[in-house]
Amino acid sequence: MCRAPRNALQISGRQSWDFHAAIARKYGPVIKLHWLFGTSALYVFDLLALNHIIKDQEKFDQPPWTHNMMLGPGLLSVTGDTHRKQRKMLTPVFSAKHLRTVVPIFYEVTDKLIQAISARVPMHSESTDMDVLGWMSRAALELICRGGIGYSFDPLIEDVSDAYAEAAKYFVVTATSPETILLRQMAPFLKHLGPSWLLHWVMEKSPMRLVRRIVQITHVLHERSLDIFRAKRAAIEAGDDSDSKDILSIMLRANMEASGEDRLPEDQLLGQMSTIIFAAMDTTSNAMARTLQLLAEYPQVQTKLRREIADAKAGGNHLDYDQLHALSYLDASPGSPHDFPTSIRRHLVSILACNRDKALWGPDADEWKPERWLAPLPAAVESAAVPGVYSNMMTFSGGARGCIGFTFSQLEMKVVLSEKLAHFTFELSERPVVWNIAGVAYPTVTVESTKQELWLRVRKVREE
Ligand code: HEM
Repeated sequence: MCRAPRNALQISGRQSWDFHAAIARKYGPVIKLHWLFGTSALYVFDLLALNHIIKDQEKFDQPPWTHNMMLGPGLLSVTGDTHRKQRKMLTPVFSAKHLRTVVPIFYEVTDKLIQAISARVPMHSESTDMDVLGWMSRAALELICRGGIGYSFDPLIEDVSDAYAEAAKYFVVTATSPETILLRQMAPFLKHLGPSWLLHWVMEKSPMRLVRRIVQITHVLHERSLDIFRAKRAAIEAGDDSDSKDILSIMLRANMEASGEDRLPEDQLLGQMSTIIFAAMDTTSNAMARTLQLLAEYPQVQTKLRREIADAKAGGNHLDYDQLHALSYLDASPGSPHDFPTSIRRHLVSILACNRDKALWGPDADEWKPERWLAPLPAAVESAAVPGVYSNMMTFSGGARGCIGFTFSQLEMKVVLSEKLAHFTFELSERPVVWNIAGVAYPTVTVESTKQELWLRVRKVREE
């Protein structure tokens, strides 16, 4: 085991990419770091250790206290039997059988997105610089609100402002900021303060603006979620909502049919609403924006992918669930965000270092190569037991805490990207793209800026 010389600030810094790479290279897959208040922490990407951490939920499961405070007792915040019960209730919602029925909802949202972007790219052959992250964020929020809670907050074809949508966006940015991540590290010390209402009161009165803002946003999200939840439950009880396909409706119906011991109380059902929106939003929008950036950087990949999509569409309109899954190049390009710079999560498991481990992936581990997934994987990967739920990667984590929504996310990304590529081409713009480390990595145009944006030059695809 090796010792890294400095502390928590270095690892959480927005531009600490080189630090992550350097310690992984220099000290290997288990690194002891000096942490806050004289404590130490482990930075891990050793496969044996990862398997142990991921599988031994009892020992290593410590959801950040901020999650419970902000999201309520949903999947991300609860532990032990409550977590197992919640997973049991939610897992069927993410099955292929159910996801097939969500595809039309995804296309309804995506069609509006295409219409909205088309209206801003006036003439064929002319191009327009566009903040594609802005559009991907609006689309990802609308996709998870329509598919997740059966509610629309953003028509996309016109610009409207909604308090819930604004609070959700701000909440995700705040909750995954390096400051909040550092605050979370104080959990072991803050829990000695006393009951959660006292902690809540302390946060409300905090001298830190960030903390007070988090409390305010949490109120907005909670109040609106409660209204939506109660209206939906009343409709289901009255028999008026028997075939809605969104996650919340399915969960409410399953909960009503569940036996007493499996049934979840209202606060836990409510907690899933904010949890799912939080977990689905920036992860998906940043992954889609990142994929578009990479496609702009690698025009030959973009052309090949567009051809695959056009051939499958064969002049027809939307690709259905099976057609989308049959597109191998689409699956290999955005579906495998090998280069998606997700940062450290629970227990300092380094998703980034594991996904880029040259000992596993070979000397070209840092390169984005869709072809990697179409050829046999390196022998080291085939024989390794990477404990991730997806493609030998840790992008979606693994075990009982692995991303429950990764199939949902793959599907929505395939719908959005296939339609976007069928209608538009993407080139790099003059504006630089700087990726920043946070709970979910995000792009800005400068190192100093905190405004999330990613600009590309967008052009309509010429009709053949
Ligand atoms: C590219 C997109 C996504 C990425 C990279 C991603 C990644 C992850 C990761 C790494 C975790 C583990 C977090 C931890 O251990 O603290 C996680 C958990 C989770 N994700 Fe995702 N996710 C994505 C999209 C989604 C979507 C679309 C949904 C919902 C529809 C979702 C729902 C969840 C939930 C509920 C959890 C908590 C699971 C639990 O604790 O049992 N995610 N995700």
